Amino acid sequence: MLDFNEKTATEGVLKSFSSIKNERLKELMSSIVTHLHEVVKETEPTFEEWLTAIEFLTRTGHKCDDRRQEFILLSDVLGISMLIDTINNRKSKNETESTVLGPFHAEAPNISLGNNIANHVEGERCIVKGKVTDTNGNPISNASVDVWQSGPDGLYDVQKENHIVDLRGKMTTDNDGTYLFRTVKPQYYPVPTDGPVGEILNSLGRHPFRPAHIHFMVKAEGFVDLTTHAFIDGDPYLETDTVFAVKESLIRKLENSTDPKDGTSCKTLEFNIVMQNN
Ligand SMILES: [Fe+2]
Repeated sequence: MLDFNEKTATEGVLKSFSSIKNERLKELMSSIVTHLHEVVKETEPTFEEWLTAIEFLTRTGHKCDDRRQEFILLSDVLGISMLIDTINNRKSKNETESTVLGPFHAEAPNISLGNNIANHVEGERCIVKGKVTDTNGNPISNASVDVWQSGPDGLYDVQKENHIVDLRGKMTTDNDGTYLFRTVKPQYYPVPTDGPVGEILNSLGRHPFRPAHIHFMVKAEGFVDLTTHAFIDGDPYLETDTVFAVKESLIRKLENSTDPKDGTSCKTLEFNIVMQNN
């Protein structure tokens, strides 16, 4: 019999897990319960506070549907998504660091090197280019480079009612590992704030913004898939990304340059990518 009190509570629950056959499940549940009990013992919530937490999680679930995942957003703003991403993508050499996938990835049209992915928005023109290599600097040809970004209004195409695919494209590196596309400068944007996560950000006195970035998903045979961002140097939210996804090695300067195609002025962003061997 468990003589329940504050001292025996955790041990009693852990004992109830003794017949779990799945060892990993047992490990996870034991750790979660141990830590949650610690939180409760340390903070001693009132019934009212406990119910507020239950009600918050319930509303978070109700906010989820096919297009909206409020629990992932909650995980994001608490730094959990980034922690899981980083633990699962430890780098040993000079490989490009990963960062979160985010909720706006979608099937992108195949494009040729040099194509413009900003077909339906106006903005500051920009050439984005780089080389995909292995850790020794050898070029990786035929790598798939899938890119997507927000427009100058801070919105992704999938957030708009018109359903026009824009600001995304998938290309293949050429023989010397080069990729290149034309676009417009991305803009910082807020995560959705019309749900429980928005409320909690507000209560915590936190802003909802993510610094301007371009998403990359790079795949090549023999290498670990890479999901990352190129962040734009100078963005006002680089220091305080609300989902904690910034890594210093991923920040790049937008340089003033000229488009070799027509001699007009534009920005250039160079983002070389180093893939990790499988
Ligand atoms: Fe994004």
